[in-house]
Amino acid sequence: MAMQKLVGVSSDSNGRSANWSSRITFILAAAGAAVGLGNVWKFPYIVGENGGAAFIAVYLACIAVVGIPVMIAEITIGRMGQQNPVKSISNICKRHGISKNWKILGFICVLASFTILSFYSVVGGWVLHYVTLAMSQSFSGLDHAGVEGVFSDLVSSPSLLLFWHFVFMGTTMLIVSKGIKGGIEKVVTFCMPTLFAILVILAVYSATTDGFHESIAYLFNPDFEKLTSEGVIVALGHAFFTLGLGMGTMIAYGAYLDKNISIVKVSCSVALLDTIVALLAGLAIFPIIFSNNMQPESGPGLIFQALPLAFSNMPFGSYFGILFFLLLTMAALTSSISVLEPVVQYLEENWQLARRRATLIAGSACWSVGVLSAFSLNLLSDFHPLDFITTLEDKTIMGVLEFVSSNLMLPVSGLISAVFVGWVINRKFGRGSSFDSGAVGSALLTTTKYITPLAILVVFVSSLF
Ligand code: TRP
Repeated sequence: MAMQKLVGVSSDSNGRSANWSSRITFILAAAGAAVGLGNVWKFPYIVGENGGAAFIAVYLACIAVVGIPVMIAEITIGRMGQQNPVKSISNICKRHGISKNWKILGFICVLASFTILSFYSVVGGWVLHYVTLAMSQSFSGLDHAGVEGVFSDLVSSPSLLLFWHFVFMGTTMLIVSKGIKGGIEKVVTFCMPTLFAILVILAVYSATTDGFHESIAYLFNPDFEKLTSEGVIVALGHAFFTLGLGMGTMIAYGAYLDKNISIVKVSCSVALLDTIVALLAGLAIFPIIFSNNMQPESGPGLIFQALPLAFSNMPFGSYFGILFFLLLTMAALTSSISVLEPVVQYLEENWQLARRRATLIAGSACWSVGVLSAFSLNLLSDFHPLDFITTLEDKTIMGVLEFVSSNLMLPVSGLISAVFVGWVINRKFGRGSSFDSGAVGSALLTTTKYITPLAILVVFVSSLF
């Protein structure tokens, strides 16, 4: 077993799943974590709002300066420590005489993934509900009030929400319980190419609609006047969220990565894939919105109201609707499994539970916490638990969980990983173990040590006030 640890090969015989079958399956799984609801409903909108190509340039810089370095740091921690986020860090620290206080990073990761999954699953449930609605042609002939009604019927019904939340979490648990090779790998190798193919079909269709030119202008014309300092903060925050950083996903996935694979290369590939999908999503969605004389809006309204309305009005719209919601389902599921994995790994390794039991416990606990988020939309919509904190005023339980995890836990965890790998790990092991040798590696290391922590701090502080 010691030898196995040394060369980064593990097998089912030592109580955990085997490594990824290949570099490609790792990239697909990590890209699956990255490509999620954020790419489809948030990115296209914030690009349009914040100055088109000007914003895209800033966003790409954020991916390069913060996204890729933090991803490299997380994968490095996982591969060196060979276990869940908490144990990986304590393994590294114990073996090499580093203060074990760094373990706090692992706890933040596991806590953050648990929290984020609890409400991500509620929204994942909405997507499943919409797949069934699209399949039963429930949108055809609806007007604006009609689609709004469908959405408010869903969010105002606790039982419907809980049911779909249950189905979504159950599916996530089923996949994760089967382990890396038997579950996660199989799902991502099917879902990621399929998702990409659907997106291309939708984008090609959209290119034939009247709204295409307007969309290109909306997305790509640089408008530096619209780009404010707030836009820069939005870009950095989104770079974090969209790559799935700060929650230990990449630590958990990195633990199963073979030693001979370049972490720099896989991280760049994942960031590139994620960006391509986000841009394609914009090219697929906005033409449909514009050619129906509607205005782009963000969040639930765009996906669950504007698009169904557009689908109800266009030729073959019901088929496009089905394709679109299937795409969203795959995007959401490949993210949710990546968020459950670190928690399950933790229970397996720290509590010595079998994978199935670990999944059952983690998933049900997460589902139960998610119930509070589901109720935040109806029964508890007037309950603002942390009203006495100005930043959290007027936020429901779901709002608080979302704010605390995305704006507090993710940046803090990203900051600690960058400092841990850039300074501590690098001093002990040199940069070969994470950043590769060569000019790119050395530029990335310098970025990770100085620029990444500074950039995260600036955004972190400004997002709080
Ligand atoms: N990246 C996903 C999206 O764009 C969401 C997600 C998956 C995530 N794993 C994560 C966000 C880890 C933060 C941390 O929707």
